[in-house]
Amino acid sequence: MVMVMVVVMVMFGVMVEGRGIEPHHLHISTTTTGNHHQQQQQQQQPIGNLLHHYSTKSSNIHHHQQPPSNLHHLFTTTTNIRRIPSKRLHHQQHQHQLLHPQHLPADPHTHVSDTVVGNECRVCPSISELNPCECRCVNATTAEVTCGPELTSCTQLTDVLTLTNFPSNLYIRLAVNQTDLECILREDLWGPVQFQEIHLVDNLFHTLDNNAFTPFTTSLTLLNLDGNLLQNVYFPALSQVPSLETLSLAHNLISFLPGYFPFSLPRLRSLSLAHNKLTQLQQKSFAELPSLESLDLSHNLLTTLYPDAFTIPQHKASHLYIDLSYNSISTIQEGVLVGSKTCDINLQYNSLSTLDEHIFRPVIDTCGLLSRIQVIGNPFTCDTRLCWVAKNKTISNAFDPIRCQNYNNQLLSILSPFCYLNQRPTESP
Ligand SMILES: *[C@@H]1O[C@H](CO)[C@@H](O)[C@H](O)[C@H]1NC(C)=O
Ligand SMILES: *[C@@H]1O[C@H](CO)[C@@H](O)[C@H](O)[C@H]1NC(C)=O
Ligand SMILES: *[C@@H]1O[C@H](CO)[C@@H](O)[C@H](O)[C@H]1NC(C)=O
Repeated sequence: MVMVMVVVMVMFGVMVEGRGIEPHHLHISTTTTGNHHQQQQQQQQPIGNLLHHYSTKSSNIHHHQQPPSNLHHLFTTTTNIRRIPSKRLHHQQHQHQLLHPQHLPADPHTHVSDTVVGNECRVCPSISELNPCECRCVNATTAEVTCGPELTSCTQLTDVLTLTNFPSNLYIRLAVNQTDLECILREDLWGPVQFQEIHLVDNLFHTLDNNAFTPFTTSLTLLNLDGNLLQNVYFPALSQVPSLETLSLAHNLISFLPGYFPFSLPRLRSLSLAHNKLTQLQQKSFAELPSLESLDLSHNLLTTLYPDAFTIPQHKASHLYIDLSYNSISTIQEGVLVGSKTCDINLQYNSLSTLDEHIFRPVIDTCGLLSRIQVIGNPFTCDTRLCWVAKNKTISNAFDPIRCQNYNNQLLSILSPFCYLNQRPTESP
């Protein structure tokens, strides 16, 4: 049954209105019902002609006349065509009026034009097939497929992606946003169509399985899984999508990221694990991300940074921004930034009480004026341990203002370049 339906859709690419099909009466019009310039074909045609015609443009089928017997057979088997909500029908008619302007040639057989009107394209499948998802043209040659809260099951998503007759095999974007679904992200959730970006945002997905994205091995450059309940993430599955340039897993429940090369992504430039539950970074978790330029670990539960956390031996990006803001980092062990190319670290709103020269000096020595170490929002206890900052302008300029909790004042106001304390500490809390 499903097989036959696929065959029908693939063979004809025809837009079938879901009004129930009367098997013995088939009338075919080449434009939408809302258009008065219809060219109606009342005569029977050999199936070859029909195939030719309907593979070149989408059309509606009405049912008044005897169909060719082969067609009859095929169509009578497609009884479970989804109904189109009337709101969508209007949208569809509107789109088709744009797609089929008045000056179309009268003979539909000659109309194989690739003319695109406005922002419309020819790569969107029929609205009824895609229901409850939608397709929107981005430019003349590509479109995005979006599904929202109307999606009622993961199977329905799979059906839409597998059974729809997509006119193209590559789309710029798939978005499944704001559903109540708890799909397990795995290989068989998807269909044959490729996407350059996949956004699965604000759903209740909790598991990313082995092979989750293997169907997109060559096409996928951006994967956005923000705002789910991901907890069980099989990170090596991501290595199977080596084309990834952007990966975002922000706003999930990830509490553990394995060490020693859990994923290898040669093109990945941006990785976000912000707003998760990470309590600790292992050694060399990011070591096989040679193109990494931005690593967002903000809003986690990190307390101590251990050596080799940010090592990327074959780093070939020109820079690396590491965002560690809004954690509870109080201890940074020596060697944390060894083997890392970063000049730009955000440590704002952590629990640092001082800044260790052994850790940050090498960064500033290497990066010079490009150094930027953001530390606002830490409860610094200022004393002579911070002389190395106060006495060198290049160094103090690398940090944003260091506010001393024990003086209730800025570091540079209380510590002179000669490391002379200008003020007595306030009562410690
Ligand atoms: C359409 O957009 C895609 C993605 O932005 C782009 O790669 C492609 O070149 C564009 N095509 C045209 C004809 O503008
Ligand atoms: C889905 O969510 C992502 C991230 O918020 C957003 O960029 C994208 O535009 C959304 N797509 C739709 C169709 O809502
Ligand atoms: C200040 O620190 C910079 C960066 O580490 C260094 O190159 C420079 O020599 C230092 N200047 C002085 C006067 O020590």
